Amino acid sequence: MKLSSLAVGAAVLPGTAWAWGAAYFQALLRNDTQDYLAGVATWADSLRYTKWGRFTGPFHYIDAKDSPPSYCGIDYERDCKQEGCVVSAIQNYTGQLLDPQLPYWDRVKAAKFVIHFVGDIHQPLHTEDVAKGGNGIHVTFDHVNFNLHHVWDTSIAEKLVGGRVRRQPYPAARQFADRLTEEIRLGKFNVSREGWLGDVELADPVATALAWAREGNAYVCSTVLPEGAEAISGQELGGEYYDKAAPVVEVQIAKAGYRLAAWLDLIASSINARETLKESLKESSMGDL
Ligand SMILES: *[C@@H]1O[C@H](CO)[C@@H](O)[C@H](O)[C@H]1NC(C)=O
Ligand SMILES: *[C@@H]1O[C@H](CO)[C@@H](O)[C@H](O)[C@H]1NC(C)=O
Ligand SMILES: *[C@@H]1O[C@H](CO)[C@@H](O)[C@H](O)[C@H]1NC(C)=O
Repeated sequence: MKLSSLAVGAAVLPGTAWAWGAAYFQALLRNDTQDYLAGVATWADSLRYTKWGRFTGPFHYIDAKDSPPSYCGIDYERDCKQEGCVVSAIQNYTGQLLDPQLPYWDRVKAAKFVIHFVGDIHQPLHTEDVAKGGNGIHVTFDHVNFNLHHVWDTSIAEKLVGGRVRRQPYPAARQFADRLTEEIRLGKFNVSREGWLGDVELADPVATALAWAREGNAYVCSTVLPEGAEAISGQELGGEYYDKAAPVVEVQIAKAGYRLAAWLDLIASSINARETLKESLKESSMGDL
């Protein structure tokens, strides 16, 4: 169960705002259950390893060429590859969702991409170039061999969600997402959550996504590689390291879910406003006849 999938679970905030987003995307994805987003969360990961989908590989990350732990930072011009990156991909597929000319299936695909990439961009090692985003750094986590990227994508999140995750991933993830949703609504995140939407602007997806990416990237210096890449190589990360990393993973999942719900709602509201305008123009011109 990956960070990006868990974020999608936390994106459903029943009884709060974002009614437009939920209704619109339930209809688009033809799934009216509460978990309408969960079923499409992993699609983009399966696609990138197919022949057709290979071009989407770079869309999952942005390789910041900074130098942790002394300096973190993302420079869009420098770090977004010619083929694209997670920031340009969020822009591209958000634009496609807003394009009324686009065929239905292309809008469904665009929705699946946006849903996945908003999760990915919140994983600190999806915003870092060092050792291919940590894929080349070998460590152990609870005495099992992994690379650091996998530890941040999956191991920490799974430990946070709880032991039963392997045998029953969905119920465990649902419980975890529900707990996070409550923390966002009434618990420890209810004050910080307003700040989480500070940089969100539908008219400027690049600035929005870059702000999200920069936040995650800052954790590379503070929490992912606090002593640098060489120092962490071969280390056991299930103990003290986990204790520091887990709150970061938790807040990043909460932010990703909250922002995803808000972003989808902005898209749906914008489409809805346009449709309403079109209808009223049609009616008033019919009145003129
Ligand atoms: C809706 O999504 C859920 C969660 O992914 C899935 O289990 C269910 O089969 C989906 N329903 C339809 C009609 O596709
Ligand atoms: C935008 O999306 C289309 C359709 O998937 C793709 O062909 C194109 O490469 C994307 N462009 C960028 C800059 O991501
Ligand atoms: C946050 O939750 C606390 C209770 O946990 C409550 O007293 C406070 O009013 C809440 N703040 C907001 C902004 O909802």
